[in-house]
Amino acid sequence: MDFTNNLTNSDITNIMNEAKNLKINKERNDCLKDVIFGLLFFEPSTRTLMSFESAIYRLGGKVIKYNSNFSSEKKGETIEDTIRTIDAYVDVFVIRHPDKEVFKKLKKFTKKPIINAGNGNGEHPTQALLDLFTILEYYPNLPNKIAFTGDIKNSRTIHSLVYLLAKINSDIYFYFVSCESLKPDGDFLQFIESFGNDRFSITEDLNDIINCIDVLYVTRVQKERFNTNMISYHNMIVDSNLIKNSKDNLIILHPLPRNDELSTDLDNNPKSKYFEQVENGVYVRMSILKYIISKH
Ligand code: NCD
Repeated sequence: MDFTNNLTNSDITNIMNEAKNLKINKERNDCLKDVIFGLLFFEPSTRTLMSFESAIYRLGGKVIKYNSNFSSEKKGETIEDTIRTIDAYVDVFVIRHPDKEVFKKLKKFTKKPIINAGNGNGEHPTQALLDLFTILEYYPNLPNKIAFTGDIKNSRTIHSLVYLLAKINSDIYFYFVSCESLKPDGDFLQFIESFGNDRFSITEDLNDIINCIDVLYVTRVQKERFNTNMISYHNMIVDSNLIKNSKDNLIILHPLPRNDELSTDLDNNPKSKYFEQVENGVYVRMSILKYIISKH
């Protein structure tokens, strides 16, 4: 599962249903007992890495972790040689890498399934599935209006979630709220433009739209991907004051980690669902692992 586009609508429904069963039953079993997973993270991670590990352990699978600080990468080994090598050790790869094009390159070096845990500023499909799962818990028929804010240009979680929502429903209205330098661009902009002007708008101030949205999806500025000195995001700060005029059933999501774009004064607000996303990540990733294994 490298891009959201590879998923059919029935795959998505099956993954959602199985994740729901796993969450309700709090099931643990050993259905992956013969499967060895290689977790290769070439960028920092807390939630994605550890929730994959937790999901694998809950289903009885085995994990081998690659540590880029203590591996032959430090002796100048290429990622291609690293993948060829680890191909001999594992049955499934879970890879996060800063290069957006990494999966196109690596497919030549392994036939084993690869799960994309984040490719640069490209995509993050497993995060999008857990975001969708969380949205469906509050909007079983999907929301009418969803706003994305923060670093829309570089946020792979926003890209994947928009691709996924657009695939399963063509009636959602999308707001993209960001300062000039973080607005959608490139392929992603082309994609949202293909919806037609009556289905999206790109604006600069959350205050203008906060009263009409059902879901607010907040992201941090991806400082590691570019020089951020010029960025001012005061119109994109999400705090108790901002949401005073929001709908009663607004939900606030964030893939985390956060910086100062999302105030801790919202953490105990019933509208905040970002720590529920964290918990759902385990069930959704368990479901994804079962799906991957069933396909191979
Ligand atoms: C995100 C990521 O790595 O893209 N985090 C995550 O996986 N939960 C978001 C981010 O780093 O800002």
